[in-house]
Amino acid sequence: KKTGFIFDLDGVIVDTAKYHYLAWRKLANELGFEFTVAQNEMFKGVSRKKCLEILLNIGGITATTEQFDRWMIEKNEDYLTYIEKMDRSEILPDVDKVLSYLKSKGMPIALGSASKNAIPILEKVGLTDYFDVVVDGNHVTKAKPDPEVFLIAAKKLGVPTQNCVVFEDAIAGIEAANKAHMVSIGIGDAKTLSSAKHVFGNFEEMDTAFLDMLIGAVN
Ligand code: G6P
Ligand code: MG
Repeated sequence: KKTGFIFDLDGVIVDTAKYHYLAWRKLANELGFEFTVAQNEMFKGVSRKKCLEILLNIGGITATTEQFDRWMIEKNEDYLTYIEKMDRSEILPDVDKVLSYLKSKGMPIALGSASKNAIPILEKVGLTDYFDVVVDGNHVTKAKPDPEVFLIAAKKLGVPTQNCVVFEDAIAGIEAANKAHMVSIGIGDAKTLSSAKHVFGNFEEMDTAFLDMLIGAVN
């Protein structure tokens, strides 16, 4: 039996939150209001549409459907200008070490992301080959904290949900993993991610003994 390993993308594999922030801030400024780094925290793991709803709420703006759609496109076009410049140097510490260790043990690996830009980002940083399955914002109808994205990933990996492990940096993602009855592992702040089964500041803090435990625990 095998353990399925599901990775979130933004904030776990790469730090794209800073680019999302710059693009949302640009839009907010164009619309005449400020958008802070602290407010950007609310956007982690949250779909593009939901982010724009929150942003407009912050600015006290009511949009027509046309405006809403145009601003979604504008934000994404700006975000893509940052993505285009990404390379291997933007992979978060020890992510490739963990991926290659799990690969060497023959473990199935999936990406489970809310982003519609997941595939181009994986390509840019050169990690595509590690993933047996990619489930992203183009495949789901219900955003995290709904477990849909992880349930689809488990199904595509052919691994029972209770034998899957999820690495997540967002509260919504940890909730989704817990709802899917998977082992949730928070990557980030222990206080923020207290609902996770285990929390690590980053992958540098995670040793192979812990990964072996995850491989063994569900088998
Ligand atoms: C991830 C990020 C969110 C982002 C979402 C959609 O979950 O953490 O901040 O809003 O993906 O990303 P997209 O690339 O489709 O706009
Ligand atoms: Mg994330």
